Amino acid sequence: MKLHNDIPQHVAIIMDGNGRWAKNHGLPRAQGHRAGAESVREAIDACKEMGVQYLTLYAFSSENWNRPEAEVSALMLLLEKFLESKLSDLMRQDVRLLAIGQLDRLPAKTRATLDRVIAKTAENASLTLVLALSYGSREEIAEATKKIAAEVKSGALDLTDISPQLFSRYLYTADIPDPDLLIRTSGEMRVSNFLLWQISYAEMVIVNKLWPEFRQGDLFDAVREYQKRHRRFGGV
Ligand code: IPE
Ligand code: IPE
Ligand code: MG
Repeated sequence: MKLHNDIPQHVAIIMDGNGRWAKNHGLPRAQGHRAGAESVREAIDACKEMGVQYLTLYAFSSENWNRPEAEVSALMLLLEKFLESKLSDLMRQDVRLLAIGQLDRLPAKTRATLDRVIAKTAENASLTLVLALSYGSREEIAEATKKIAAEVKSGALDLTDISPQLFSRYLYTADIPDPDLLIRTSGEMRVSNFLLWQISYAEMVIVNKLWPEFRQGDLFDAVREYQKRHRRFGGV
């Protein structure tokens, strides 16, 4: 087991399959999301153990607002409860929380809980947990473009200043390195509007298990798979 060298600095996960897991167990979809929260704990523990520095979890997409209101409310409530119950663990494990997405769309109470946990964990340094909430990559790119255009218009930026490096600094992920490893559970081979810019050179691992079935060992396996890849970045 050579898990201790060549550890990805940033792992991003599209946590998919909660609904199907619930259906398979004859449970309402919300129960699938609840079961998925346990897998989040496992993923954090595995990242801590391996020394991964950034873990980004796709928890709620811009498109997920179109789900039935009852499911959206259940997810928001679950998120609040998760954050409240997880704060002491985050402090003990030295995990800093960040969030990316259109956070102003979150219910006020969810947003307040999120902001509180972000503020409390701000000095933690072993692992940065980034929750993608009300997140859509196209929205992120459009917002960045608007900010850049406004600065060009005001004269703060010159057209010739615009480069991939500059553009990256206008995304929600400005201070976060690009993911090295992108995992999606439930066997779906699509990106679903997640970090389109940032995953340009990420290695992708598709896991067939549904998210509530995902355990620490599955993350170790994905990292082993990553370690077998030869990243060329367009070179030879
Ligand atoms: C992922 O599970 C969680 C969210 C998108 C919030 P899903 O709810 O998408 O589960 P499936 O894909 O319907 O099984
Ligand atoms: C992607 O899963 C979003 C999250 C995991 C939060 P979805 O279940 O929403 O994506 P699609 O609909 O299968 O593309
Ligand atoms: Mg899904």
